[in-house]
Amino acid sequence: MPNKKKEKGGGVSRRSFLKGMGSGIASTAALSTGGLLSKEAAAAFLAPDAERINDFQTIQLKINGTMQSVRVEPRTTLLSALRDKLDLTGSKEVCDRGQCGACTVLADGKPVLSCMTLALDARGKEIVTVEGLADGEKLSAVQQAFVEQDALMCGFCTPGFVVSATALLQDNPNPNAEEIKLGLSGNICRCGTYPNVFGAVQEAAKNMRKGR
Ligand code: FES
Ligand code: FES
Repeated sequence: MPNKKKEKGGGVSRRSFLKGMGSGIASTAALSTGGLLSKEAAAAFLAPDAERINDFQTIQLKINGTMQSVRVEPRTTLLSALRDKLDLTGSKEVCDRGQCGACTVLADGKPVLSCMTLALDARGKEIVTVEGLADGEKLSAVQQAFVEQDALMCGFCTPGFVVSATALLQDNPNPNAEEIKLGLSGNICRCGTYPNVFGAVQEAAKNMRKGR
């Protein structure tokens, strides 16, 4: 009976752990009646706001130059609206918590993380996704350079890098290596294609300066 022996010896058994958890919950409940919050206020704070959660509404978003109607909840992220409602799956959901940059889109020309942006807050802004960078079948200079410089492996990070690089080159058409690294510092590539990505941005910058 190894478990019994461990409990007697003062180790942490599953039973004592669960007992500890129970007392932790009890103390949290006590806090709600101990002067910080009344029991009713604590219950109201913790209860889901059903009215708000179910408050679907149809909003208009300008995506890649076209006004689109989309039905969202207050909690719907721009990334979810793009991918799940508008079938624009170029922006990738990788971390879904603002850490990898794979979901980057442009909002009024500035790079934003669409997983951290509410769809409601995108109203009135010009949203451009990676799909909106190409001119029909013609890739943008940045997209073309990523292809030519072989700047992707699995490709999950690539849309975010392409959008961030586009924003960088709009602000700074002739960035040096340090400025490129800084401009793309919000994007993570787990496959480690950084040298090719940085090379692609330099190549795109060169071509854009030549008007290609
Ligand atoms: S998916 Fe948005 S930052 Fe990672
Ligand atoms: S190419 Fe795979 S994560 Fe960047």
